[in-house]
Amino acid sequence: MAAQPQPLTPERPAKKSAWKELAAHYKTLSKQHLRELFAGDPERGQRMAIEAVGLYFDYSKNRVTDETMSLLLKLAEESRLRERIDAMFSGQRINVTEKRAVLHVALRAPEDTTILVDGKNVVPEVHAVLDRMANFSNRVRSGEWIGHTGKRIRNVINIGIGGSDLGPVMAYEALKHYSDRSMTFRFVSNVDGTDFAEAAQGLDAEETLFIVSSKTFTTLETMTNAQTARAWSLAGLGGDEKSVAKHFVAVSTNAAEVTKFGIDTANMFGFWDWVGGRYSMDSAIGLSTMIAVGPENFHAMLDGFHQMDEHFRTVPFERNLPVLLGLLSLWYNDFFGAQTVAVLPYEQYLKRFPAYLQQLTMESNGKHVTLKGKPVKHDTSPIYWGEPGTNGQHSFYQLIHQGTRLIPCDFIAFAKPLNQLGHHHDILIANVFAQTEALAFGKTPEQVKAEGTPDWLVPHRVFEGNRPSNTILAHELTPDTLGKLVALYEHAVFTQGVIWNIDSFDQWGVELGKVLAQRIIPELESPAEPVLNHDSSTNTLIRRYRKHKES
Ligand code: F6P
Repeated sequence: MAAQPQPLTPERPAKKSAWKELAAHYKTLSKQHLRELFAGDPERGQRMAIEAVGLYFDYSKNRVTDETMSLLLKLAEESRLRERIDAMFSGQRINVTEKRAVLHVALRAPEDTTILVDGKNVVPEVHAVLDRMANFSNRVRSGEWIGHTGKRIRNVINIGIGGSDLGPVMAYEALKHYSDRSMTFRFVSNVDGTDFAEAAQGLDAEETLFIVSSKTFTTLETMTNAQTARAWSLAGLGGDEKSVAKHFVAVSTNAAEVTKFGIDTANMFGFWDWVGGRYSMDSAIGLSTMIAVGPENFHAMLDGFHQMDEHFRTVPFERNLPVLLGLLSLWYNDFFGAQTVAVLPYEQYLKRFPAYLQQLTMESNGKHVTLKGKPVKHDTSPIYWGEPGTNGQHSFYQLIHQGTRLIPCDFIAFAKPLNQLGHHHDILIANVFAQTEALAFGKTPEQVKAEGTPDWLVPHRVFEGNRPSNTILAHELTPDTLGKLVALYEHAVFTQGVIWNIDSFDQWGVELGKVLAQRIIPELESPAEPVLNHDSSTNTLIRRYRKHKES
């Protein structure tokens, strides 16, 4: 048997000297208010901000000092982050439990780059697939690719789940402004039949193309939806099996399963086992995105990704955006005990960005053992959540401002709107700046009293402040900026995974539920009363469901 690959950092994070120093430093720093930190350092707002690859990253409203930052950076060094970055970019099998390379960075590498996996340069293959995708997308967009009955394709439905859905749907929504508005794009992920029923609602099968997106092509939800789509399409096309070739294409790494499903591999767009599902939106999994926005915009997005990759790979950690973003969130997670991070895009087109980040961050770093399989002694991934501003302000921001929990926030904003309507955009951006200011500085009892507030009401109207946030400000939401933003978070997740000494690229935690569901399905469907061997709760729920079904 092959020897278990040895992790590069066998040591536990908490044993590193920087970790211990951070723990000691936390005791004094946590008593300081952001008001004092700003008052004592007039240049803080300029000094603790970085502009790189077109993103302005202001981290001054974090509960950190220069000492905190240098200790966090020391922690990154002691965790041998640089070596691990090089290991990823050079195609080493850093996904140790699956013994795979982790090379989403190769998906956006320029054509003349060499990235070797098992001695083979993978970049030419990446570009060959991109060229096939571009050719296909252009044919669909121009009407050259026609459906079985000769009508042009006007509707595209992507069927996939997890990384095979969240990336495509997020990117479609994010780049809708650049999309072909004469076409309809819909996304089906949930095995709940309502998802398919609503996605197909009102569409003409003669004009509808399905993209079945699944790395494995065995995922229960996707395969169930794909079979339903096949039946729906055939029903609308007179039942002619030949129509499948014109109305179904596949994106997968599994040619055998694609063929079994009945899709010709000529209509399959491949990718590789070194692309994780949650890191795949810029692979062929992005086919729906490319059809929507066109190959040129897709390539601009890839270029944005690549610029951030190069920034991450080459720039010293103290000016490295993903490293700083990752370290700051780790600081709250592991030393302040913060449980969550709110991601708050002040850009309606980014409405699915928090959902996308949930898979990226939590499926990557929601791990309980180290690379060596030992229980971790510190918290790993925080819970990511969020909604676009300003909607969230009228719902959960109350808790962020005055609740009992510390919730670090990432505010994301763009200087130029994509839809210039009156002075909407100034109002929107004023709210970003107002929120971060209010969170950091709050309002003291003295200030509240000075406004004439009666004594009994003062405590209710006090804002403690000292609530940390990052502000990420870019010029405009373009395909290139989207690529940079996604890569920023990808590499921040990587940074954290290295420090936590975990495998950020496997996802064993999703397996157990899948296996149990496969066992329960026949118990729900069998005509005869099944013999149940679950716990008493599960047995009772199954029996109750069966009763409801019969009624
Ligand atoms: O459920 C976990 C998962 O494996 C994700 O990591 C992945 O993105 C998703 O399922 C979909 O997998 P596939 O693309 O193989 O259908």
